[in-house]
Amino acid sequence: MNYKFNETLLTIPPSASLAVSEKAKRLKAEGIDVITLATGEPDFDTPDAARIAGIAGIAGGHTHYNAALGLPALRQRIARKLCEENGIDASEENIILTPGGKYAVYEAIRTFITPGKAEEVMILNPAWVSYGPIVMAAGGIPVNVELSFETHYKITREALDSAVSKQTRAVIVNYPNNPTGCILSQEEAEILADFALAHDLILISDEIYERITYDKKQSVSLASLPQIADRVITLNGFSKAAAMTGWRLGYACAPKEVIGKMSILSQHTISCLSQFSMEAALAALDCQEDIARMVASYDARRSFFVKGLNDIPGVTCLVPQGAFYAWAKVDLAGKDSFEIADYLLDEARVAVVPGDSYGKGGSRCIRMSFATAEADLREALDRMRAAICKINGSSEVRK
Ligand SMILES: Cc1ncc(COP(=O)(O)O)c(C=O)c1O
Repeated sequence: MNYKFNETLLTIPPSASLAVSEKAKRLKAEGIDVITLATGEPDFDTPDAARIAGIAGIAGGHTHYNAALGLPALRQRIARKLCEENGIDASEENIILTPGGKYAVYEAIRTFITPGKAEEVMILNPAWVSYGPIVMAAGGIPVNVELSFETHYKITREALDSAVSKQTRAVIVNYPNNPTGCILSQEEAEILADFALAHDLILISDEIYERITYDKKQSVSLASLPQIADRVITLNGFSKAAAMTGWRLGYACAPKEVIGKMSILSQHTISCLSQFSMEAALAALDCQEDIARMVASYDARRSFFVKGLNDIPGVTCLVPQGAFYAWAKVDLAGKDSFEIADYLLDEARVAVVPGDSYGKGGSRCIRMSFATAEADLREALDRMRAAICKINGSSEVRK
């Protein structure tokens, strides 16, 4: 059969982080001892209270179709959380549940982009590997905005201005950031607000790592700025903070009119989420202690892992202020990030994601997840140090 596939789909590359994870899995299946730092998934189980609520939902027969917008009780509880914790003025009518944060990104873009009209969506780089492909799948054109490692990826008006055009409709912003671990400061939020107002743009703010921050810092929620509250779509979910990746629970918060349009998409594509999953999510929103325990554990691992990386000659790792990724620049005989990741997999048996997969600003960088067992992180540090020193000709730990 000579299939005539969707032409856009033919231009979308497969996910780079999944490709690395798959390669690592293949090597493991061959009996090779690979440590995987490539996966963006908490290494904790879903908190007990959430699991029990999910089981009770199944036992109670809550296994039928549901409202496309999501359970009213969950929408109310999410709105309360956003008011209390994020300074966002929200109520039930501003919330829609989606099957994972990923679908919320797709739906938000689909709501504002008309395929065939060459409309552009700016993406601050480095950026999560799926934003570009999701923009394309939704019929838009992704435009990458390069921020720089040297300035810790600080947002500047110049960088934003250099990427905007008459065709720009929206900007995707993700803080705490995957892959860099940067959080959004008030000053940067104001820059984004002025920019969005000047060009009449929608801001899609993916805050899925918002509960995972360190050193008592918080990332600013863009919708808490009153002057832009009507043009921000806040996206979040339960995968990362509540360790619920497999439950597929995400949500969007936006003005009622926007939620109405997103709901039309939901009605005709996914119908609804499963009720027992949403009941588990409702319980997860009260699992503050479990979440605090997980964050404390990431924090402990962050401390020694980032220090260990910075002790390796040729490696400069940013100190992440949020999420659970270490993002490091590696000087390795002029190798690019794909060559560095290949070398570390072949020589050190450590799987990392090449920085160039995250767009501009990721050159010679690698992303490593420290949501990984402590023993594996320590072993990975030893192996990477040995492999990097083998090329860089130094066996000394950097002072
Ligand atoms: C920045 C970012 N946004 C959204 C998602 C989607 O998460 P999920 O669909 O599991 O809720 C991820 C997952 O890796 C992510 O890193």
